Amino acid sequence: MSEVRQILVTSALPYANGSIHLGHMLEYIQTDMWVRFQKLRGNQCIYVCADDAHGSAIMLRAEKEGITPEQLIANVQAEHSADFADFLVDFDNFHSTHSEENRELSELIYGKLRDAGHIATRSVTQYYDPEKGMFLADRFIKGTCPKCAAEDQYGDNCEKCGATYEPTDLKDPRSAISGATPVLRDSKHFFFKLPDFEAMLKEWTRSGTLQDSVANKIAEWLDGGLHEWDISRDAPYFGFEIPDEPGKYFYVWLDAPIGYMASFKNLCSRRPELDFDAFWNKDSSAELYHFIGKDIINFHTLFWPAMLEGAGYRKPTAVNVHGYLTVNGQKMSKSRGTFIKARTYLDHLNPEYLRYYYAAKLGRGVDDLDLNLEDFVQKVNSDLVGKVVNIASRCAGFIHKGNAGVMVADNAAPELTEAFRAAAPSIAEAYESRDFARAMREIMALADRANAWIADKAPWALNKQEGKQAEVQAICATGINLFRQLVIFLKPVLPNLAADAERFLNVEPLRWNDHQTLLSNHQLNAFTPLLTRIEPAKIEAMVEASKEDLAASESTAPAGNGELTKEPLAAEITFDQFAAVDLRIALIEKCEFVEGADKLLRLTLDIGDAKRNVFSGIKSAYPDPSKLEGRLTLYVANLAARKMKFGVSEGMVLAAGPGGEEIYLLSPDSGAKPGQRVK
Ligand code: 2FM
Ligand code: ZN
Repeated sequence: MSEVRQILVTSALPYANGSIHLGHMLEYIQTDMWVRFQKLRGNQCIYVCADDAHGSAIMLRAEKEGITPEQLIANVQAEHSADFADFLVDFDNFHSTHSEENRELSELIYGKLRDAGHIATRSVTQYYDPEKGMFLADRFIKGTCPKCAAEDQYGDNCEKCGATYEPTDLKDPRSAISGATPVLRDSKHFFFKLPDFEAMLKEWTRSGTLQDSVANKIAEWLDGGLHEWDISRDAPYFGFEIPDEPGKYFYVWLDAPIGYMASFKNLCSRRPELDFDAFWNKDSSAELYHFIGKDIINFHTLFWPAMLEGAGYRKPTAVNVHGYLTVNGQKMSKSRGTFIKARTYLDHLNPEYLRYYYAAKLGRGVDDLDLNLEDFVQKVNSDLVGKVVNIASRCAGFIHKGNAGVMVADNAAPELTEAFRAAAPSIAEAYESRDFARAMREIMALADRANAWIADKAPWALNKQEGKQAEVQAICATGINLFRQLVIFLKPVLPNLAADAERFLNVEPLRWNDHQTLLSNHQLNAFTPLLTRIEPAKIEAMVEASKEDLAASESTAPAGNGELTKEPLAAEITFDQFAAVDLRIALIEKCEFVEGADKLLRLTLDIGDAKRNVFSGIKSAYPDPSKLEGRLTLYVANLAARKMKFGVSEGMVLAAGPGGEEIYLLSPDSGAKPGQRVK
């Protein structure tokens, strides 16, 4: 018996200001399957996570909702926990970074870094919102791009021309929070001296801790030279105040990874067999793995190992990076209904379908994974229902009817059960190396062999023949044993299916090594269908509901009670102001999608004596733009042309409604002619 490994595993901590969607779930499901595999093998594997509860975004969101940040993060934690539990993501602990353990550990680690000389301070000049009374992070500043003059661009990069710049380079800067013109102000900041750890990082990132492509990316950063990292933020901020530095807070990314430790520490207080130091000491023999997405590599492979090293702790054994999720080959899109929240999925479909599909497509690399909804239905129905469950449903009835549910001791296919046994090390190796796709391929190849063998033996035909009952029973008992072996191999991916199968098989919870034994002279319980086929209508309903989610989140209406949204009336204007708006009848000559735009349609308008190009954010209401062609609408003819990412919009068409699918383009009565002025 090999030694029991001690393994601590984490997934990235989700921000406590938004819902979990299927893109997030890719990471949690992947990690959970790996953890379940380790546990099934008999290793001591602990899986911790937490909500990432700090930062100005959370502070501002709470303010907008009229609640305290503490209330917001408590509400979100309840929602997140339920989503994870229902997707069968089995954390040993799901904590919060806004916790006492995290405060203590953050202060401790910061203190150790400071005392070892790894913290520098200096003054930083930054934009400050005088109305809101706070310094503005780059994403809270908007203005005109200094390069291409595109309006309404964020403080660090231009979406139109791709330029990156300092917020101070923006023309006409304004606060995205209050709209005020920001002013420059100095403030003392604290920096973590990352360059102190350059040699260690060069060594650590090349020591088998990272996938090759990730290590290569980091080598580029390391060769380019490391910079000190700003770890402080000024009040007001939702986070931990830096000890002895009133009004200064730890930046959210300082205490977020420490949240991994804090969640584990919190668990240790409830599980006395766990020793915090044994997992985190510099000379710890435990393994530590972080699963993350490719957008947060630098935090986990540079700052975090350097912080751990500087504070005298062990470093991660490996950081496992995965790619993004696309749906139907494209970025998840709210208007297409493919931005699917975890809860919306759960309202329509069994979580194990998605767990299996992700497993079937997840390799070791950092490539993006595509959830193709048609392929999803086809694969789940064919593999899980058509292959795996089919074996049990083909055999169980004969055992119940012909032998009172008792599996006989005869093995009718010793080579096959032996082949299943022999496949186990390779499947285990695939799981261990996170090549879930290979594990699933190998398991399904076994399922194919089992089905082919049963089809060849045709117990349903034998059963009709005189004197063949013993043979039928031997075939079906063997079939059930093959099914049991498959269930063991699939248990990390399909824990509910495994639990239902264990009930049917009348056995204790299966462990990995149980694949080596067979059931004989064994009483089964009644067979109930273990998994049903996905009906495509369920997918359509989920996509439709995701569009509804969008409408709900975009609308300003309180809760959907079917009534029209009452928007407060705008300030009164004079008749002259009204008359200044040149409203015309326009004929929509052409209407088409805009490549790369989630919400826009491009309209070519005939306004009598001229043509106009207008972009309008009505795509969600008109999924077939050609339907608008030939329709008349109202057009604001004297609105200044606006340069947008996709071209220049010359004026505006008029529509009403709360948003999402509920947008109604205004039309005149028939008889109106393009170009006529609205009076
Ligand atoms: O990118 C994110 O969603 C972060 N909340 C992840 C934090 S992971 C860890 F370091 F805490
Ligand atoms: Zn630009």
